[in-house]
Amino acid sequence: MSQAVSSISPGIDFRRVRDQFPVLRQEVYGHPIVYLDNAASSQMPDQVADRMDHYHRYEHANVHRGIHFLSQEATTAYEETRTLTQTFIGAEKSEEIIFTTGTTDSINLVASSYGRLHFREGSEIILSEMEHHANIVPWQLIAEQTGARIRVIPMTDAGDLDLQAYRSLLNERTALVAVTHVSNALGTVNPVEEMTAMAHDAGAVILVDGAQAAPHRPVDVQEIGCDFYVFSSHKMCGPTGFGILYGKEEWLSGMPPYRGGGDMIDRVTFEQTTYNIPPHRFEAGTPPIAAGIGFGEAIRYLNQIGMEPIAKREEELLAYTESTLAELEGVRILGSPKERASSVSFLVDDIHPQDTGTILDKHGVAIRTGHHCAQPVMDRFGVSATARASVAFYNNESDIDRLADGIRELKTFFKS
Ligand code: ALA
Repeated sequence: MSQAVSSISPGIDFRRVRDQFPVLRQEVYGHPIVYLDNAASSQMPDQVADRMDHYHRYEHANVHRGIHFLSQEATTAYEETRTLTQTFIGAEKSEEIIFTTGTTDSINLVASSYGRLHFREGSEIILSEMEHHANIVPWQLIAEQTGARIRVIPMTDAGDLDLQAYRSLLNERTALVAVTHVSNALGTVNPVEEMTAMAHDAGAVILVDGAQAAPHRPVDVQEIGCDFYVFSSHKMCGPTGFGILYGKEEWLSGMPPYRGGGDMIDRVTFEQTTYNIPPHRFEAGTPPIAAGIGFGEAIRYLNQIGMEPIAKREEELLAYTESTLAELEGVRILGSPKERASSVSFLVDDIHPQDTGTILDKHGVAIRTGHHCAQPVMDRFGVSATARASVAFYNNESDIDRLADGIRELKTFFKS
């Protein structure tokens, strides 16, 4: 096993941080677990699990509906998540934070509601070649309904977006640009500030998919300037089933409801119903209250460590992952983008990624294999699948050494 220098960013003892994740103290198939599938879902620290447990045991009631003590308490705790999120991403107003069930739901909401209002025959929606399916299919669905057309920003061989091509795609028909901040398949960090300015110069709005960015770096939506920004709790040490849509008030205020039900109305009669103002207009029905409170605690937890130290520590880990993989004979890393965050996709000799993942799993190493819900990325690189390792701040260098050991054993197994 190669001996890694355990490089701990000054100020934070990331060894102690790792101890806050009980899942990482377990063994899998007789090996201490190595969790490198953080881009799919991150792990949850005690602090978040305890907060949700406390809610379930002592605070549970429906929100926004009850005059009684428990309902008021639950509502206060749930709504705190809105202001925590507002501050976390630098939004101007808490009303610009819509609670959804996750990134996919957030994108569907914008596609359906904003799209129905603004797209018409001949409108153009610009996506990129590196989008997750969740940032492709909702736009295809609304394009079919409205007569809008999808246009695609190509990628270079390095796995960066071709900004010249993007510029030439923008025109007076461009209604909306939807682009990922960080690619889930390649880890590419896109220049979303620049891309936002370019969209606005063409008179278009822009949605940024932050699912793979918000967990890994400080995000300021006002600095980016984007119109919509979306992300998920479960990739940020929070629970599943909860996510965020940030939207500028100027757009949200005019957008029609996405789903109908309780809480999103102003007045209901059989003749006509009027709707609540944002954010509630977009939050029909009883929400996932425990998940919302859990996500608020996850934000508190990330703030305690700090997103700057998290980003710095993950940069160290990612650089160590890239150099370790590059030293292994027969390993091919997909793309070499100008900037990468958290994820790296690779292939080992001509071994199918499914086999790579299965054998690594038997050594206790969890990675993701497949097309990563980004089939156009696979098509661009002429492969059907990859193996992907994605780091979080609670990983360490010895996790990466274990990945490398597993790959060496995989190669030996296939040679024999
Ligand atoms: N979008 C998640 C991933 O990239 C599930 O793995």
